[in-house]
Amino acid sequence: MASNPTATQLTAAPAKRTGLVRCIAIVLLALIVLAGIVVLIIWLVVKPKRPVYTIEDGSVHDFNVNNNHLNSTFGFVIRAHNPNGRASIYYDSIEVSVAYDDQNVAFSTLVPFHQPTRNVTRLDAKILAQNVAISSSIAKDLKLEKTSGEIELAVRVKAKIRFRVGAWKSNHRTLRVVCDPVMLHFSSSKSFQRTYCDIDL
Ligand SMILES: *[C@@H]1O[C@H](CO)[C@@H](O)[C@H](O)[C@H]1NC(C)=O
Ligand SMILES: *[C@@H]1O[C@H](CO)[C@@H](O)[C@H](O)[C@H]1NC(C)=O
Repeated sequence: MASNPTATQLTAAPAKRTGLVRCIAIVLLALIVLAGIVVLIIWLVVKPKRPVYTIEDGSVHDFNVNNNHLNSTFGFVIRAHNPNGRASIYYDSIEVSVAYDDQNVAFSTLVPFHQPTRNVTRLDAKILAQNVAISSSIAKDLKLEKTSGEIELAVRVKAKIRFRVGAWKSNHRTLRVVCDPVMLHFSSSKSFQRTYCDIDL
């Protein structure tokens, strides 16, 4: 029996096409897996370490508590150390806040910067508390702190960072730095004790 030539042609063409599609799909999948492995290897080789933070200096000025409101000027020298030999760090946004007894009393943003490899940068943060409403118990405690001559605060830094290795840049990651307790003296004759900060990345 002679087969119908038109019917054979009709079935052969789609079969060839699905074979081609499958082949392209396999190649694409292989490429994606390969790219993933390359990124993973780069990441494992250069694996950026977390930055290291300390507070080198701190001061408090124009501190005044009145009617459950606070006015104050805080100044901090925050030392940011990038320990990586290959990864530089983009700081795309930096927020610094000051808390007393878990209540935020002052907040400021710093200028974004790019930190080279193995670099130490000292950030000067001047943070104002301007007529900040506080509870009466905190107002009472703050007055006591002032009389005692020193105040214990927590300084927090929240930054959006990216690592850069060569031409490759990581996604944005949130860096959280907590420096607690930070002791400030109302009298400038007392020297500041360096504070080591905890890092969460
Ligand atoms: C804070 O300063 C503002 C003026 O800058 C003033 O109106 C306010 O009374 C001050 N508050 C305190 C608690 O000293
Ligand atoms: C760290 O990098 C900044 C530029 O971002 C530069 O001005 C500073 O001198 C560098 N510090 C050190 C210790 O290399």
